[in-house]
Amino acid sequence: MTPTPTSIPDASIPDASARDASARDASAPDASALDVPAPPKFAWLDGELVDWSDATVHVTTLALHYGIGFFEGIRCHDTPDGPAFFRLGDHLRRLARSAAVYGVALPHTAGELAEACRQVVLRNGLTDCYLRPLVFLGAGPNPLQAPLRCSVTASAAGPLVGPPKEGGVRAQISAFQRYGANTLPPAAKASGQYLNAFLAQRAAVQAGYGEAILLNEAGFVADGWAHNVFVVADGELVTPPVWSGGLPGITRDTVLTLAAERGIPVAERPLARSDLYLADECFLTGTAAGVVAVSSVDDRVLTGGAPGPVTRTVADLVTAVAAGATEAHPQWREYLH
Ligand SMILES: Cc1ncc(COP(=O)(O)O)c(C=O)c1O
Repeated sequence: MTPTPTSIPDASIPDASARDASARDASAPDASALDVPAPPKFAWLDGELVDWSDATVHVTTLALHYGIGFFEGIRCHDTPDGPAFFRLGDHLRRLARSAAVYGVALPHTAGELAEACRQVVLRNGLTDCYLRPLVFLGAGPNPLQAPLRCSVTASAAGPLVGPPKEGGVRAQISAFQRYGANTLPPAAKASGQYLNAFLAQRAAVQAGYGEAILLNEAGFVADGWAHNVFVVADGELVTPPVWSGGLPGITRDTVLTLAAERGIPVAERPLARSDLYLADECFLTGTAAGVVAVSSVDDRVLTGGAPGPVTRTVADLVTAVAAGATEAHPQWREYLH
C-alpha cells in the first residue's frame, strides 16, 4: 500500500494537519472523507471473496521484506446512472505494465481483476469508494520462485471534490531525489519505490509542509511524492514529461485531455525549481485527491493562498467527467450494473 507517514507514531513529528489544514496523504482518500463505521465485509484474495478479517498474510511474505509488489489506486463514483469506475481499464493496464517493467506477469487477467473490483464494491454495498488492487510476492525461500498473490480491497471515500475554496497545500521541494530510470523505473507503480516517497513526504511533514515535490537526478521536477505536478505560466498549463521521472498518472492524462479540449494551451516540458516558484498557479493531481491547489512552494506564495482560475476550471472538469455530470468521455466511466 501507499505509505501514510503521518500514521506512524513518532513524537518527533508534529501533526502536520494542525499546521496545514490541507496536509494529507493524497494517494489514499482523505481520512475525513472516509465514511466507514466498520471495515468492509469482504476483500478479494487470490481469486475469491473472503471475509475482511481473513484477508491476511504470513510474516514470511516476501513482499513485506523486499517491497516486491505492484498496486493501483482506483476510484468508483456514484453517478446519475449508478456506480461507475473511473478509467478502470487504464488502471489495470498500468498495473500490468508496472509488473512488466520488473519482468513479472500478473497472476490474473484484466477481466478477472475487473470482476474482482466489481465484486468488492457490490458485495460491500459501496458506491463512492477507493479501490486498491495489489499484486505481491508471497512467502517462500527464493524471491525468484515465490508465488505471486493478489488482493483487491475497497473502502468508502467521499465524492471527488474540487480544490478548497481557500487555502491549498504548502509544498516543499524535497532534499530527497526521485530515483532514476536505471535505478527503479519511475514508470512503474511498485510497492518498494514508495520508500523514496516516504522519505520525502515524512521530511516535508516534519518541517510543517503539506506535500513533498521531488526533483530528478538532473535537478528538474519529477513529480509529487504521490501526485503529478502542474504549473500555469502565461496562460499555459505545463507538466513535466514522464521521462522527467514522474508516474504516468491517469489523472494527469485526464487533465491534459480535458484542458486541451477546453482550449487551454497545454505542454509537457521539463520544469525547473524556479518554474514552480514563479508559476501563476500550481496544482497536484492524483486519483484519490483529484486536483489539489498548491498555495506556496518552499514558502514562495503563489496565488495569495486561493486556488487560481485554471486550477478551479481543471478541478471542475475532472470532477464532472468522473462523476458522470457530463456526457463527455463515456469510455472513461465503467458502470458496475
Ligand atoms: C508517485 C505518484 N505520482 C503520481 C500519482 C498520480 O497518479 P494517478 O493520477 O494515476 O492516481 C501517483 C498516484 O498513485 C503516485 O503515486
